[in-house]
Amino acid sequence: MKWWQKTAAFELYPKSFLDTTGSGTGDLKGIIRKLDYLASLGIGIVWITPVFRSPMVDNGYDVADYYSIDPSYGTMEDMDELFAEAKKRNIRIVLDLVYNHTSEQNAWFIESRRDRTNPKADWYIWRDAKEDGSAPTNWRGIFGGSAWTWCEERKQYYLHTFAEQQPDLNWANPEVRQELYRIANFWIDKGAGGFRVDAISYVRKPDVFKDGEPDGEDGMVSVHDMTANTPGILEYLYEFRQNVSEGKDIFTVSEANGVKANELKYWVGEHGAFDMLFEFSHVNLEFKGVETWCKPDPWKLADLKKALRDSQEATKDNGWYPIFFENHDKPRSISHYFPEDADKNAAAKVIGTVLYTLRGTPFLYQGQELGYDNFKWDSIDCYNDISSYGQYEFALQEGLSEEEAMACVHRFSRDNSRTPMQWDDSPNAGFTSGTPWLPVHEGYRTENAEAEEKDPSSVLNWYRALASLRAEETVLTDGSFTELFEDDPYLYAFRRKNGDAELITIVNFSGNTVKYGLAEESDCDVLLSSFPHETGVMKPYESCVIKKR
Ligand code: GLC
Repeated sequence: MKWWQKTAAFELYPKSFLDTTGSGTGDLKGIIRKLDYLASLGIGIVWITPVFRSPMVDNGYDVADYYSIDPSYGTMEDMDELFAEAKKRNIRIVLDLVYNHTSEQNAWFIESRRDRTNPKADWYIWRDAKEDGSAPTNWRGIFGGSAWTWCEERKQYYLHTFAEQQPDLNWANPEVRQELYRIANFWIDKGAGGFRVDAISYVRKPDVFKDGEPDGEDGMVSVHDMTANTPGILEYLYEFRQNVSEGKDIFTVSEANGVKANELKYWVGEHGAFDMLFEFSHVNLEFKGVETWCKPDPWKLADLKKALRDSQEATKDNGWYPIFFENHDKPRSISHYFPEDADKNAAAKVIGTVLYTLRGTPFLYQGQELGYDNFKWDSIDCYNDISSYGQYEFALQEGLSEEEAMACVHRFSRDNSRTPMQWDDSPNAGFTSGTPWLPVHEGYRTENAEAEEKDPSSVLNWYRALASLRAEETVLTDGSFTELFEDDPYLYAFRRKNGDAELITIVNFSGNTVKYGLAEESDCDVLLSSFPHETGVMKPYESCVIKKR
């Protein structure tokens, strides 16, 4: 097995991790200072969201220069030090490659927009207006509004799948692709242990651009439905593999929404383009297709179980599964999967237990190990997340009241997972001595790393116990997965087995006491349980892992 299959990963949002300068935003020195904390969680991979020079319209996912560090995060020397210090602790730093688009402030775009004949003229997606002067197609960008913006200098529109400040690169141009591979190799030479590849499903555009059937009152259709996973995309991705990852001791995980199980073998594994692929069905249970916050569907535990079952099944023979329940684009898992009155400490342990015992590499997102939940700010103006604004506007256009639109933002805003880390109970939770860029979650007085260190029943210590369990019980890495009690509406349970080694995870997603029958339990020892475990009974929100003698 490869090193990246045997360890656990930590997704780190640097802007909110630790500020060492008083600027109010986190920095690379802050990450270095907390490497021992990450090591204490058994982490072997730290994926850092983009730290390259950026105007931060989308917090770094709008890159102005891929070869330099944004001054708010520090310097290239800090980055070199981070690679070196991480290496000493057996941690590899994984960087985020923003490949679909750049910032409008990137020198390539500044040149491209000048006229139609400059050397970078064809580096982005430019199209003429329709005869009436309107946008070339009726595509809506993922952050809301038209996916096209008019450029007066060139007298043409450019395409942006995301914000208007994030113009899409033209992957059909081989020069663009070669430059993108050069960037990856530059960072591999510096010491990167691998890459998370951003929004990769959008890089291949259709040959012909046409209007789609409107899906909203604005007469537009989501750009996602018109361009994601366009046939031919794999040619580019194999070229990426040949030029970037093949033959090197790095690992790659792509963010690729909507890849079907029967196509997975082309995307991941020995002959695929990447080692792993983030797939979102289990975190998007309330959205059948495009993520439209004001049109969520109700969901049940059965849906979550099915989504996890499908991805365990799909990756059984194809590649490897990156297990995750949170990231910087999603609300907090406690708030997502449990009712507001649930026991939060126990609920956090349910998610952690599943995260660390399913088959795959666990990806923990910062703050999850301390049990953070969502928050509610009163007005949209308090939010920073660019997609919250787009979704709020869209909800109003669809006829929702302001209060209803805010309820959608409370539930789904990406800021829910972006509040600063809570290190201790001092002002601003020890995150900064200045004014934090985003307010600290009010729960910080009790939910903070220092307090949780000392509390044996804390979420933090539960995660540490899970990390030790995964290190000791190799069946959690190399064992097969079989689901148990598939039809139970409250419990999620599965067996991991390899030869004689056998571990069973049982968690209770509900506030009910639930009885179950498992004949072999009399022959098992309890390795971990969040409440004193009674054979055949799961207490509300209980988690336990048992081992066959
Ligand atoms: C990905 C990132 C998200 C970003 C978007 C545009 O989905 O995870 O944070 O806004 O790409 O780059």
